[in-house]
Parts: sequence; C-alpha cells; structure tokens
Amino acid sequence: MSTPPGERSPYTRLVEKAFSEAIPLSAQLEITFRCNHRCAFCYNAPSGRPEMTTRQVCEALGKIADLGVLYLTLTGGEPLCREDFWEIASEVRRLGMALRIYTNGYLVADPAVARRIAGLRPLEAEVSLHGSKPGIHDALTGVRGSFERTVAGVRNLRGSGVRVQLKCPITRLNQEDLRAIKSLALSLDSYLTFDAVVTPRDDGNLDPLALRPDDGFLEKYWGEWYLELHDGKTPPRNEPCAPDRVEAVCGSGRGGLTVDPYGEVLPCVAMRRSAGNILEIETLAKVWRESPVLEEVRALAVEARRRLDAHEDGPYFSFCMGVAEKQTGDPLGLYPQAEINARAVRRAHGRLGTGGAAGRKTP
Ligand SMILES: C[S@@+](CC[C@H](N)C(=O)[O-])C[C@H]1O[C@@H](n2cnc3c(N)ncnc32)[C@H](O)[C@@H]1O
Ligand code: SF4
Repeated sequence: MSTPPGERSPYTRLVEKAFSEAIPLSAQLEITFRCNHRCAFCYNAPSGRPEMTTRQVCEALGKIADLGVLYLTLTGGEPLCREDFWEIASEVRRLGMALRIYTNGYLVADPAVARRIAGLRPLEAEVSLHGSKPGIHDALTGVRGSFERTVAGVRNLRGSGVRVQLKCPITRLNQEDLRAIKSLALSLDSYLTFDAVVTPRDDGNLDPLALRPDDGFLEKYWGEWYLELHDGKTPPRNEPCAPDRVEAVCGSGRGGLTVDPYGEVLPCVAMRRSAGNILEIETLAKVWRESPVLEEVRALAVEARRRLDAHEDGPYFSFCMGVAEKQTGDPLGLYPQAEINARAVRRAHGRLGTGGAAGRKTP
C-alpha cells in the first residue's frame, strides 16, 4: 500500500525517529587507505599506522552489527585494493547488514569482479566519475586509462544487475562537462549525484581546495543547470521539522558513524575526531551512548542549525562541520564555499519562485 500524498511513509518516520533519538542506522568502514588512483583532490590522509587485519575488520563488523546498524558501506581508499575484500564483504552480508560499496571502478573493468560483486547482492555500488571523456577524468584521477576502465566497470556492474550510483565531485576541471557527464550516466543506465564542495584533506591540508569549482560557475550550477541535471528537482533547502524532533545540521554522530582503517571510531567521514578504537572497546553501544566526543558533535550539529537559522541564507546552507573545522579552525565557522553555495541556492529559489522541497539522498 502506498503512502497518501502529503503523508510521511512509515520508513521516513522510522528514519526521523532514529535521527531524533540518535539511533545509528548506517556506518561507513574505511577498510584501507591504499588506492590505485592518485586523485589530486582526495581527502584521505594516511598516517602510516598498520591497518586492521582481516580478523580485526571482521571483529569491527561484528561490533557494528551488534549496535543495530542496517546499512554498511565499504569504502577507503579503494576498498577493492584489499585482497581480503571478498571475505570482508561476505561478512557484512552474513551479519545481515545491507551492503554498499564505494569504488573508483578501476578493478571492476574485469567482468569477473563485477559478477562477484553482484553475487554479494549489494544494495548498490557507488562509482566515482569525474568526466565524460578520458582527458578530464584521467587528469583528475592521475591515472591514464582510468576513464575507459571505470566506464567498462559501470557497464559490467549494470550488466550483472547491480544498481549503480555515479558520483561526481565538481571541480574546476570538470565544471563545464557536467551536462555531458549527465548524458553519459543516462547512457550507462545509472543514477548520478554531483557534489559542489571540495573538502580539505583529513589532516587539515588545504591543497584539494585549489581544484574547487569557480565561484561564478556555482551561480550558474545552482541557478541555471540544477533542475536539468537533477531531473527537475529544485536545489536542496532545509525544511523545519516538527517541534518534537531534533533540528541538527547533519547526522554526524547521530544517524551513523565511520570507522577508519586503523579502527578509530569517528562521528562521520568528515569529522575526524576519534571516540575510541573499536578493537579496544567491549561494545560499540557503550561508546555510542557515553562518548563525550560523540555527545559534543551531536550538540554542535544542533547549535550549527540554530546559528544558521539566524542567517539570511540559513535554510539554503549545506553545512559540513568537518570542513568548517579544517578550514576555519571552528566546527561552527562559516567557510567560503558554504556561503557562496547558500547565496546561489537562495537566488535560484528566488528565480524559480519555489519554497522548494529538497531532493535529498537516501540514508
Ligand atoms: C575517498 S573516496 C573512496 C572510494 C573510492 N576510492 C572512490 O573514489 O570512489 C569517496 C568519495 O569521496 C570523493 N572525494 C575524495 N576527495 C574529495 C574531496 N576532497 N572533496 C570532495 N569529494 C571527495 C571521491 O570522489 C569519492 O566519490
Ligand atoms: S580513487 Fe578515491 S580514494 Fe583513491 S585517490 Fe581517488 S578519491 Fe581518493
């Protein structure tokens, strides 16, 4: 039975309740920082510590499953670079969690790899695509031939029945190529999302920002191109929720968590503050309930929403506390990319005459 128009589906209500009560439904596990690409904008910052062994990763997965997590994403680095990837991914499924895989697609150019992924019955594979042609994609990945391999990988996944979500961080090298990327995604029978913010490296290094899209381009992206690139959806804006629900700027430390290749438990992929090491704790539930780090991050997300609500562009902000902290030294500090995007989104809604329901990603 479908949900009547104007009403929230039971699933939406479940997700909202989990968010309000900080019940984690999803987790990201970065299983390695190794990678076969050399993207100049990559946010990863490996420290050189030994990464978790197969046994330790499986122990971490057991603790994540015990916490009640439903959706588990394997990411990295490039997760397929781990020889024990299949053992790890099978363990995710054995524990009853839905599996998502983030990949650059390079190794999936081998049809046998795509078939093996399909055999895991994942929810989806999210594949990064940086251009509609080799020149742009390969310039961003730093690997000649990577475009052909990634596209072949996507075809193989679709041919094996795997749902594919393509992801494209917008940079100044591909900003004029977005429409062609959209056409390519359609021809590959795949979904596509764009990300308008290039984040600093996890260690605070700001080098990736040199590749951020031009400010003038962002005005065009949100104003003229957004609807066409997003199948008629209007740019996202915050809709105040019911009074009995928590207003937070994001789900960091609330809707999910991230575990890095060394076992450090982080509030999310962008907030790299450790709440403890998953191999040194008895249960994740105790950390989830009692960690002062997670408690502080949840409170900061509520405070960030409160402050943005007082800003003239408040509802139009997509605000990341992790980026803010790395760029301004303050998790609540307004960073230029957030302000530029918010202003452009407000103007876009003004021109469209929309109060605009947001097109949000699935949790
Ligand atoms: C770190 S990668 C890991 C998975 C896989 N190696 C890949 O590239 O898809 C996860 C996602 O983050 C994106 N990404 C990496 N560095 C970024 C940055 N500085 N800003 C925005 N997105 C970034 C990648 O393009 C990819 O879509
Ligand atoms: S493929 Fe992914 S992990 Fe590898 S360098 Fe590029 S963004 Fe980073």
